[in-house]
Amino acid sequence: MCGIMGYSGARPPLPILLSGLERLEYRGYDSSGVAFFDDSDEIHVIRTTGKISALKDRVGKEEGHPGSAIGHIRWATHGAATVQNAHPHQSGPIVLVHNGIVENEQALKEELRREGVRFDSDTDTEVLAHLVSSAYRAGSDFPSSVQAALSRVEGSYALAIISRDHPSDLVVVRQGAPLLIGVGEGEAFAASDIPAFLHFTRQVYSMKNGEIAFIRHGSVKVGKLLDPPSEWKTPEFSTVSWDPFFAEKGTYRHFMEKEIFEGSRAVMDTFSGRIVGDRALPELLEALGERPGSITMVACGTSWHAALLGRLFIEAATGIPVSVEIASEFRYRPILSSREGWIVGISQSGETADTLGAIEAARKTGYKTLGITNVPGSTMERESGACLLTHAGPEIGVASTKAFQAQVAILLLMSLALSPGHVSMERIESLLRVPVRLESFLESMVSERFDPVIDRIRQSTLVLFAGRGLDYPLSLEGALKFKEITYRPADGYPSGELKHGPIALVEPGVTIVAPMIDSSLRTKEVSNLREIRARGGYVIALGPDIEESQRGVWYDDKVDLPHESASTGIFQAAAVLQYLAYRVAVMLGNDVDQPRNLAKSVTVE
Ligand code: M6R
Repeated sequence: MCGIMGYSGARPPLPILLSGLERLEYRGYDSSGVAFFDDSDEIHVIRTTGKISALKDRVGKEEGHPGSAIGHIRWATHGAATVQNAHPHQSGPIVLVHNGIVENEQALKEELRREGVRFDSDTDTEVLAHLVSSAYRAGSDFPSSVQAALSRVEGSYALAIISRDHPSDLVVVRQGAPLLIGVGEGEAFAASDIPAFLHFTRQVYSMKNGEIAFIRHGSVKVGKLLDPPSEWKTPEFSTVSWDPFFAEKGTYRHFMEKEIFEGSRAVMDTFSGRIVGDRALPELLEALGERPGSITMVACGTSWHAALLGRLFIEAATGIPVSVEIASEFRYRPILSSREGWIVGISQSGETADTLGAIEAARKTGYKTLGITNVPGSTMERESGACLLTHAGPEIGVASTKAFQAQVAILLLMSLALSPGHVSMERIESLLRVPVRLESFLESMVSERFDPVIDRIRQSTLVLFAGRGLDYPLSLEGALKFKEITYRPADGYPSGELKHGPIALVEPGVTIVAPMIDSSLRTKEVSNLREIRARGGYVIALGPDIEESQRGVWYDDKVDLPHESASTGIFQAAAVLQYLAYRVAVMLGNDVDQPRNLAKSVTVE
């Protein structure tokens, strides 16, 4: 939700900011803006509604004067997507950009109004600009005025701030919203996510909550919000291994398409080095001690679907009871204390507010905490008792694809890691074959062989996704992917539930996509599909070993998967479901990478 970026250095800042904001655009795209100095050290603010392309048009050939500059892309929370509500916000000499929420906005606004302040926007952010400005005018130096202002603020924020009187300086703060600092030769960058500056440096410091940094060109000093600036120190930067290529579309039309086809690499990299002999993830039990008595998984959206698959893997392999919870619901329920229990949060971004909140709520009642995230340095990695990183690389498309594959991969490894006995070499070898099999399947997926099925789905009045066992979470994921980028009605169900209500929706024009990986439940699934066809529904079966002779009997059309292990089949079926949604959305002319109303990381409740 919103992305911020700051720069301080000897280069003209605007090309750097615009390229960085473009890479952050997945975080929001309602409006955007930049603030920079001109040759006379005057600050200029340019803001516009819509995407970065609109901002680029407004900026034109302007490059800005070397020194500091800030930029923002917005996912609207407080106030509509208008120019007035776009960031940066200015108050006197202070200009800032913000990602987060000011919770005591109303009280602060009333107080500032009583002091004669006039508000130009509906945002909570403007309050921050006025607070910093008033502390600055009262005589504090630039960084101290930020500290003074923030001591009055409740809520979450990542901030980048410049001051008219200090054209080389940049102050950034992190409290509850992600912020990373990258340092190069005589220059430094701050941004909500690493890809924003990955082209310029790989030396990264991930700020902790409650930290503030003062940046002047390549000099970076970090301290706690309450510590005097004289005590701030140069942080330790670490080298990130992410390849900048990940954040480029290459020859693909969309990031989502590229990322679907990067699924096999995501699985391969997530497996890599994680199996030693017949043991998987040895670091897991080293960090958390004994096998848990129970596991509760919390997540949102696609990550929640991965967790539902994880439950099936772990319960079958280990006998440990696993419950899977939607984070936003779980965190506000009474949580029964469990000293032997693990709470496992799953989040691609590692910044989803509800997932982090759910982990924290469980931690307080005695759970050991484990995070599974794709983003090194994210809040989830830093604040969980132990963390398993998936290695999908940066995921830019708002619809999660390769990150889901990597989550499923790590959950499979976790099921091996927690197995009570010896894991057979056969099982391990079969797992290690998954990425190669997925790779060759993905190569075959680019063909036109999906066209008839895609055409049918596109013309459907409603698309239902239904499956049993492993195929149920896959159905939920297929439906979510389809909804979020095609904007067409769709839903996912356990097939056994259809006749408890949803089957009333079935009539000619309705299509049912049925993943059929779980061979143990195929007979029952086939009966459910017959019931659908009997009511005029059109059934598209997706799986291995679907006999041609059954066409017109229990299915109408099919997408064949190779005859493989169920583990491999899950990844292949997920890729097909992602690709079907992608192709239909492209045909409909939708903005696939940045679907309406959504943002990549949901850092507000
Ligand atoms: O970063 P997270 O994995 O915590 O994000 C959770 C959901 O917001 C995310 O999976 C969302 O549902 C995706 N847009 C789905 O494609």
